[in-house]
Order: sequence, then structure tokens, then C-alpha cells
Amino acid sequence: MAPSAITPETSPERQYFSKKKAFVSRGPLSRTQSVATIKLNDGNVIPQVALGVYKAPNGQETEDAVTAALDAGYRHIDSAARYANEEACGRAISRWLQKTGTRREDIFICSKLWDADHGYEATFNALCSSLDKFGLDYLDLYLIHSPSDDEEKRLESWRALETAQKLGKVKSIGVSNFGAAHMQNLLEHARVIPAVNQVEVHPFCQREALVELCNKYDIKIEAYSPLARGNKLEDPTINAIAQKYGKTPAQILLNWNAARGNIVLPKSLTASRIQSNLNSFDFTLDSRDIATIDALGSENYVTGSMHKSKD
Ligand SMILES: NC(=O)c1ccc[n+]([C@@H]2O[C@H](COP(=O)([O-])OP(=O)(O)OC[C@H]3O[C@@H](n4cnc5c(N)ncnc54)[C@H](OP(=O)(O)O)[C@@H]3O)[C@@H](O)[C@H]2O)c1
Repeated sequence: MAPSAITPETSPERQYFSKKKAFVSRGPLSRTQSVATIKLNDGNVIPQVALGVYKAPNGQETEDAVTAALDAGYRHIDSAARYANEEACGRAISRWLQKTGTRREDIFICSKLWDADHGYEATFNALCSSLDKFGLDYLDLYLIHSPSDDEEKRLESWRALETAQKLGKVKSIGVSNFGAAHMQNLLEHARVIPAVNQVEVHPFCQREALVELCNKYDIKIEAYSPLARGNKLEDPTINAIAQKYGKTPAQILLNWNAARGNIVLPKSLTASRIQSNLNSFDFTLDSRDIATIDALGSENYVTGSMHKSKD
């Protein structure tokens, strides 16, 4: 696919998935599709949908999923040192770039600093190790995976990310699983404001106060577990709305999230789902349906262990 299939985007606000007529998918696995991008507070541009690869093995299954995603039109892969599959992702990416003649800079790769590697030097070592495993010279986005309880170490890690960005080893830097208190603390000490905060967000877990704080600093929300890990696909409200639009429950969940201006990271190792998740953005939920979905939102986390700070 030609690199021009990525739509450069200049507006910093909500960007919906572009419906370039030539690329609109009319059936499963039939066409590639271009995706919307969002401008980050550092001026870089991020594709609004990523393939998440949590719990994807470091082998052929993940290579196939990443290849299927890139073939379908995804241009953003969300991995992490902790997922232990950076090598498989890197192999698939490198093969796909070669096969299609696409430039490295036309895809967006994210990894994350694991908890055991907090601290200034340790962060550099961890970043180098991730780069080696991917076989890349730089990452597009590097995140602190979750906030260390040790404030000094946490801030040292952030300082290392700021330096790595200056050195060109990573284009954008951000955090994950930071609650409001961690965010406030970081903002008091940071030279660079994080570009994103990657947290669990879906209709059943909306994190309104945290989202509001991030909005204030133009820190984009990356919504992880946007399908609530598959646990809410039977929900009657979501199903009724899905029927009304002729969409699947998964597509309603993803559309709702993207319409808020969030970056969404659906994970799947199933080619048909990888494709159908990408086909979630060619319709607009009306305001009454959005209000109905908004009303579902309590703090109903599906990923318990990551939540050191639920504020
Ligand atoms: N920063 C963090 O701490 C953090 C934490 C959690 C997640 N994340 C990121 O966010 C990504 C997504 O989150 P997640 O993996 O927790 O959960 P998720 O994307 O909400 O859900 C993934 C589950 O839904 C299934 N699924 C995918 N598409 C589907 C569809 N169209 N219909 C029915 N089922 C579908 C998948 O199964 P199959 O694979 O079998 O298709 C998988 O079991 C992760 O992969 C990771 O990149 C980050």
C-alpha cells in the first residue's frame, strides 16, 4: 500500500476516521483503509487506532496479526517490554516495510518502560533493549508503563525519557496508568509535558476527572482495553445500539471512544476481528445514543492489577 494512505492531519481536536471513498471497506478483508491521525502536543502525529498486542506470543501468531493489521491499514502498533513480543512485532514490521516499500516513518511504533526498569540509567538500558528487540533506530512513542511508588525514581525515569527524546531515540514520550495525583506531580517537575496518558477507558470505565485534567494540558488519552477485554460485548444497551446501526457491539465501543478524540488500541490476534475493528469508524453515533452510552460509565475496571492510582 502506498505511504500516502496515511492521512496527515493538522487539526489538534477530534479526528474521525477518514472515509476516503476509494478505501471505504465494503466487506471483511476486502480493502485497505486509511485511518485518521491526531496531532500530539509535541507536534508529532499519531494514528488514532493501533493494534494492541498484550498477551500476544513472541512468535508466528503475533507476526501474522501485525502483518494482517498493516495489510488492513493499521499504521500503529502498541507493544511493551512487558509483553515480551517486541521481537515478533519487529520481524513482522521489517518484513512488511520491505514487502510494500513503505518507509519506516510512515508507521508508528510504541513500547513501554516496565516497572522493574525505573531510574535514569535503567531507563536508557531498557529503551536500548526494546530498540534492539524491535530492530529499530527509534520508537515513535515510549511510555512509562506504570508509575513507580518511589517519586524520585519515577521522575528520574521521566528525565531519561526527556533526554532520549532530545537524542532522537524516541519521537514522543508519555505515561501510562498515571492517575490524577501522579499526573499533577509529574507536571510540577517535567520539562516536557507528556504527549499521552494510556489508561483503561471504555463506556464502562470513563475516568472523567483524569480525562479532564489531561485535556487541560493537551495530553491525549490512549484508551486501552477499549473492548473491555471482550467482557461487555453482551451488554444489552450496547447490543441494542449495535443493532440500530447495523454494527457489532465491538464497533460501537470503538466508535464511542474515538468520537471522544481518544486513541484506541483494540487487541486481536484474529484476522477478521483485526479488520472489523478497523471498520468501526465509518458512522456517527447520534447524540441520544452517545448520551445513553455515557450513562453506562461507572469506574468498572476490567484490568485490576495495573491500577495503582484510580484517581
Ligand atoms: N498500558 C497498560 O497498562 C495496558 C493495559 C492493558 C492493555 N493495554 C494495551 O491495550 C491493548 C488492548 O487492551 P486489552 O488487550 O486489554 O483488551 P481489548 O482490546 O479490550 O480486548 C481484547 C480481547 O477482545 C477480543 N476481541 C478483539 N476484537 C474483537 C471483536 N471484534 N469481537 C469480539 N472480541 C474481540 C480479543 O480476542 P482475540 O485476540 O482472540 O481476537 C481479546 O480477547 C493491549 O493489547 C495493549 O496494547 C495497555
